[in-house]
Parts: sequence; C-alpha cells; structure tokens
Amino acid sequence: MGSEVEGNRAIKVVALCGSLQKTSKNRGIIRAAMKMCSESIIRGMEMEDVNISELPMMNVDLEVNGTYPPVVEVFRNKIREADAVFFSTPDYNYSVTPLLKNALDWASRPPNVWADKPAAMASVQATSRSGQYHLRQIGVFLDIHFINKPEFFVNGVEPPQKFDENGDLIDQQLRQRLQNLLLALQAFTLRLVKGKSP
Ligand SMILES: Cc1cc2nc3c(=O)[nH]c(=O)nc-3n(C[C@H](O)[C@H](O)[C@H](O)COP(=O)(O)O)c2cc1C
Repeated sequence: MGSEVEGNRAIKVVALCGSLQKTSKNRGIIRAAMKMCSESIIRGMEMEDVNISELPMMNVDLEVNGTYPPVVEVFRNKIREADAVFFSTPDYNYSVTPLLKNALDWASRPPNVWADKPAAMASVQATSRSGQYHLRQIGVFLDIHFINKPEFFVNGVEPPQKFDENGDLIDQQLRQRLQNLLLALQAFTLRLVKGKSP
C-alpha cells in the first residue's frame, strides 16, 4: 500500500551498468536488485537491466534532422518511460567508465530525456570514490535527481569476499544495504511522482 504510482502500477526502474565484464560485480549488484524487485522483497517496483553496450560512440554526425540511430532511439525511450534510474558502475581512473558516459551523452541530446528523473547509484571498485561524485556532477547538468543517502560504495577487492566467481552478491550485510538503497530510491520517486500529479 502506498508504494505504487498512478493506476496502482509498479514504479519502473531502468538499471544501467558501467561495466562490460562478464563477471562484473556491478552487474551482480543489479542482478541482486532485480531479484529483490521480482521476489517482492521490494514491493511495487520493477527493474529492467538495459543494455548500453550496443550504443555507437557519441557522434553528432549520426543525428539526422533531430533523429537518432534506431538503437539510440530505443535506449532514449527506455529512459524517457522510466520512473527512476539505478546506476551501478565501477570507477575507471577516478571517473565514470566510458561505456556509461557514452550512454549519458546519448540520452542528453535534445530533448534531454534524463531531465527530472530520480536516481540512485551504487559502485563496486577498489578504493576510489570519485566516479560516483563525477556521476553526481554530470547529473547536475542533466537535471537528474540523485538521492544522497544511503551512499553505496563497495570495495570489491578487500576481504571478506562479497561476490562469487560469477560476480553474484553473496554478502548478507551488503544485501541489506542494497535493500535500504532501493527503498530510499522508491520513497524518493514516489515523492517526486506524487508531487507532479495535479
Ligand atoms: C581501466 C580501469 C581503471 C580502473 N580505475 C580504478 C580507479 O580509479 N579506482 C578504483 O577504485 N578502481 C579502479 N579500477 C578497478 C575496478 O573499479 C574494479 O576492478 C571493479 O571491480 C570493476 O567492476 P566490475 O567488477 O563491475 O567490472 C579500474 C579498473 C580498470 C579496468
């Protein structure tokens, strides 16, 4: 009760992973989050892992009379139709990965489909934090509303082991933290969506 948007439908969340690695721990976070939604551990929320690896590298020459390549249009529509966005990405050299930046750039082209989206971020990397802060900074210009708390940084290298060899989340404490992050995203999304209703 109280966890749905208009028409009692579930909140639609698009998940974007900044890593292409087969055993990506960040994708493991997204898999765990999707499972929480599908098994109703988080009620009233559905999550789709959207593939951004097929997007061409950003090039305005690919834009024709305000239209975009079909694969870009599909991606832009996914973002447009989402109620919220969930990012999980490693840091690459103290910043966001090129894969994720490319997706951010494509969806920023006019009309900017990120505008007014609530969002949350998680990251599994070694030690740095600046990738998340760079993502927040990019979000200022794109008008993405990132929740501030709870923060979700994970050192995927230091023991204890939190992911198995496939990149699946195996740490119970981390699972609880992820659940808290998703609940915070859900609450924030509902505040924004309900605030917009007439
Ligand atoms: C090109 C490259 C740059 C990286 N730079 C950083 C970095 O700046 N800070 C950090 O903590 N980890 C860095 N790492 C480590 C990754 O963040 C770490 O391996 C992470 O677990 C990869 O995420 P994934 O398992 O989802 O692929 C880097 C890895 C690569 C491949």
